[in-house]
Amino acid sequence: MNRPVLSFQNVTFHYPSGGSLKGHPVLEDIHFQVADGEFVSIIGPSGSGKSTIFRLITGLEQQTNGEIYVNGKKMSNRLGQVGYMPQQDLLMPWRTVMENALLPLEIKGINKEEAIEKVRKLLGEFGLEGVEDTFPGHLSGGMKQRVSFLRSVLSGSNILLLDEPFSALDAITRLNMQEWLLGQWEKWKKTILFITHDVEEALFLSDRIFILEPTPNASIREVNVPLDRPRNVHDLSSPEVVKMKSDLIDMLRLKVRT
Ligand SMILES: Nc1ncnc2c1ncn2[C@@H]1O[C@H](COP(=O)(O)OP(=O)(O)OP(=O)(O)O)[C@@H](O)[C@H]1O
Ligand SMILES: [Mg+2]
Repeated sequence: MNRPVLSFQNVTFHYPSGGSLKGHPVLEDIHFQVADGEFVSIIGPSGSGKSTIFRLITGLEQQTNGEIYVNGKKMSNRLGQVGYMPQQDLLMPWRTVMENALLPLEIKGINKEEAIEKVRKLLGEFGLEGVEDTFPGHLSGGMKQRVSFLRSVLSGSNILLLDEPFSALDAITRLNMQEWLLGQWEKWKKTILFITHDVEEALFLSDRIFILEPTPNASIREVNVPLDRPRNVHDLSSPEVVKMKSDLIDMLRLKVRT
């Protein structure tokens, strides 16, 4: 295993308001490590705390107990340490594609011309050439997600947190985006944490899958995906992967019922 870039040790978290589960933590005594360059998906029932894990990693929320290490450092302010693509599309409707993409560079105080140059160089790679002056309201769902993804990459961080980035897409667009993401990941050698409800998507993309149990007492199980890289979508038909998919679905179903 490469050096760990992210580590949760005995992490427990309560929302200050108590959330919808008053008296119960959303996460209890969670441990995991993610190695440099790994692709890890997180699956689990709705409300099990997947997005909360990302909010803790970014430092938008602070754990109640336990330690979180990002790139080997224990920091309370981790904003700016990771590229974060939240579950909701947070593109600013009054800003063009270019102006949205520029945000993380503006926040870092990078000179505007230099920042524009940096974005321009990446537009083609993200399939956004020619739409830089368009407003989000005039883009397709897939394009909006690529702008949001571009923005999280421009944070310059080695760790990307993607919260259900393809959930709103039709099956074919989704497959195209998954293949595109794998290509980007192989090129940039970043570490990716990817939340999804789609077990097949998790199997296609990941090295490992974390399965989050429902709160209260959320804990994490994990499986290794037995597929070589580069992958193609037909690899998902191998008997071993078909069996793993059905086991994961059973696991999630049981967890929803109990
Ligand atoms: N800002 C908040 N304040 C209080 N409680 C919250 C807050 N955000 C989430 N919660 C509660 O914390 C729990 C976990 O929420 P979280 O958003 O992490 O779930 P999730 O696994 O991402 O779900 P989904 O799959 O629906 O996106 C839920 O019970 C939710 O009601
Ligand atoms: Mg969520």
